[in-house]
Amino acid sequence: MERAKIVVATPMPAAVLDRLRQHAEVTDVSALPRVEWDAALADAVGVLVSSTFPIDAEFLAAAPALRIVATWSVGYDNVDLAALAARGIVLTNTSGSLTETVADLTYALVIFAVRNLAVGLSWVRSGRWLQGNMPYGHDLAGATLGIVGFGTIGLAVAKRAQVSGMRVIYSNRNPRSDDATTGASYRSFDALLAEADCVVLLVPLTDETRGMFGDAQFARMKPTATLVNVARGAVVDTDALVRALEQKKIAGAGLDVTDPEPLPPDHPLAALDNVVIVPHVGSATYETRARMAMLAAENLVAYIEGKEPPTRVAL
Ligand code: DGY
Repeated sequence: MERAKIVVATPMPAAVLDRLRQHAEVTDVSALPRVEWDAALADAVGVLVSSTFPIDAEFLAAAPALRIVATWSVGYDNVDLAALAARGIVLTNTSGSLTETVADLTYALVIFAVRNLAVGLSWVRSGRWLQGNMPYGHDLAGATLGIVGFGTIGLAVAKRAQVSGMRVIYSNRNPRSDDATTGASYRSFDALLAEADCVVLLVPLTDETRGMFGDAQFARMKPTATLVNVARGAVVDTDALVRALEQKKIAGAGLDVTDPEPLPPDHPLAALDNVVIVPHVGSATYETRARMAMLAAENLVAYIEGKEPPTRVAL
């Protein structure tokens, strides 16, 4: 029987390629420019991609035999879901493989933002330590953390915040039914903005959430409050964020994601000292990235074997 053909379009550890080769003919195009992928895509049944690569009409047209897209990420805003559904192509992500890792990074940014540590870093780098003490941050204990998009990662962030003595509120499309267990309380989005000392964004990027955070939302926040974005850059209107930080409508920000991404070094956001930016590294640990890669491979293997992929996305 002819072996299924899989195209690997993002660099993968050898163990992952070996796992795929046990079940499929694997072509690794990750080191080639996109213009050289078409020959491999022509008869590919599956592809393994990262969240930065667009799976759009052009890509799908180059892959007429495609049956499954496995993305090495939880987010899949790079994928044209309607186009996939129209062709009956299966989508899988790496849901569940990075929860604690992303929660750690999120909470690190919360601490940075609330304690004003971005300013501290820039004071030391620019020699201002010699001139005096940097402006204080705020206590975590007793402060209110507002989580927008309270799913699995949000819950893991809430646990960390509660250990620090923070009060946790959240906004979701609907209130959860387990507030008594999680210790977090539901608020409308607007009420959360007005009440939180630090707002954390954890929503997926969709048509509904794109640009959901702009001038009007910053105006509702306290001037002492901070914003942490670990979702996707485009959830926030970047120009409005720059204005809010420059005009001190909010005190600071911690960003794992930006729009555009990567952020050009001469972008106005990069010049502000009340913002700390890390280069989309929420899940970037050796252990977690390896776990995510193997899960992406297991999704492909399950599909080839006629089984239900472990983390299939409902389209
Ligand atoms: C994810 O898994 O979605 C991370 O943001 C990496 O893209």
